[in-house]
Amino acid sequence: MVSVNQHRIPRKRTYLMCSPEHFAVAYAINPWMDVTTPVDAELAVKQWDRLRETLLGLGHDVHLLAPEADLPDMVFAANGAFVVDGTVYGARFKHEQRAAEAAAHRAFYEERGWHFIAPNETNEGEGDFAYLPDAHGGLVLAGHGFRTELPAHAEAQEALGRPVVSLHLVDPRFYHLDVALASIDDGNIVYYPGAFSAASQRVLAQLFPDAIVADDVDALAFGLNLVSDGANVVLNSEASRLAGKLKAAGYTPVPVELTEVRKGGGSVKCCIAELRD
Ligand code: ARG
Repeated sequence: MVSVNQHRIPRKRTYLMCSPEHFAVAYAINPWMDVTTPVDAELAVKQWDRLRETLLGLGHDVHLLAPEADLPDMVFAANGAFVVDGTVYGARFKHEQRAAEAAAHRAFYEERGWHFIAPNETNEGEGDFAYLPDAHGGLVLAGHGFRTELPAHAEAQEALGRPVVSLHLVDPRFYHLDVALASIDDGNIVYYPGAFSAASQRVLAQLFPDAIVADDVDALAFGLNLVSDGANVVLNSEASRLAGKLKAAGYTPVPVELTEVRKGGGSVKCCIAELRD
C-alpha cells in the first residue's frame, strides 16, 4: 500500500521534443481534432517552451528535433519511435498525413549512432508503448485498437527482447495508450480502466495491484497524458483531481498549461519521447 509520507526518488531522464512552430489542426484523425477551431500558434510555442523549461528545471536533458513545415502534428514527438535499452523500434504511422514524421525520427537516431530497427507493422511509438523497467523484470505495455496494430506488438517484442503485454483500447477518445495510461515510476502505473476492454482491465489489475486508478474526469482532462521521473509528475493543468491523487500518493504534481496542442488531441506526454540508453 502507498502511504502518504512515502518518499519518491526521481531518476534523471533524457527526452526528445519538437517545437510546435508549424502546429495546426489541418485535418481530423482523432475525435479531439476540429479543423474549425482556431489555434494560437504563438501561444502554442510559448506553452511548449514552458514545458521544455519545466523538464530542464527538474534536471532532465532535452534534445530537439527540427520541425518541418508540412508536418503540423510533429510536435507530438512521442509518436516517432519507442526506445528501450539503447534500441530504437521505429514508428510506422497509421495515417498518411503523419507518415513522413517517421523518417525525421529515424534520421535523428541514426545520426547519433543508436541501434535502429525499422518496423514492418503499423505502430505509433510511445503513443502506444510504455516501458516499466522494474515491473516484472522489465515490461512493455502496448495498446492496440485504433492506431498501433496487434502484429506490431510481437514485432516490438522481437526488436526489444522484452515481454510485451497487449492491451485493447476500446474508446475512440483514448485512441493511444498514452492518453489512458502512464508510468509514474519504474514499476507502477496510473490508468483509466474505462479506456480498456474488460479483459485488458483484468490484465492490468493483475500486473499492477498498486496502480493509481484515474476516473473519467481525470482522463478527459488529459491527466493520464503525463510524464513522471519517479517523483515529479508533469501533467496537464486541467487535471487537478488527478494531481490531488498523485500528491496523496507521495508524488509532486507539476501542472503545465497546454491549451493549444491539446486541440490536436494531445498533452504533456504526446510532446515528449524518452531516450533510454
Ligand atoms: N493529432 C495527433 C494524432 O492524432 C495527436 C497525437 C497525440 N500523441 C500521442 N502520443 N497521443 O495523431
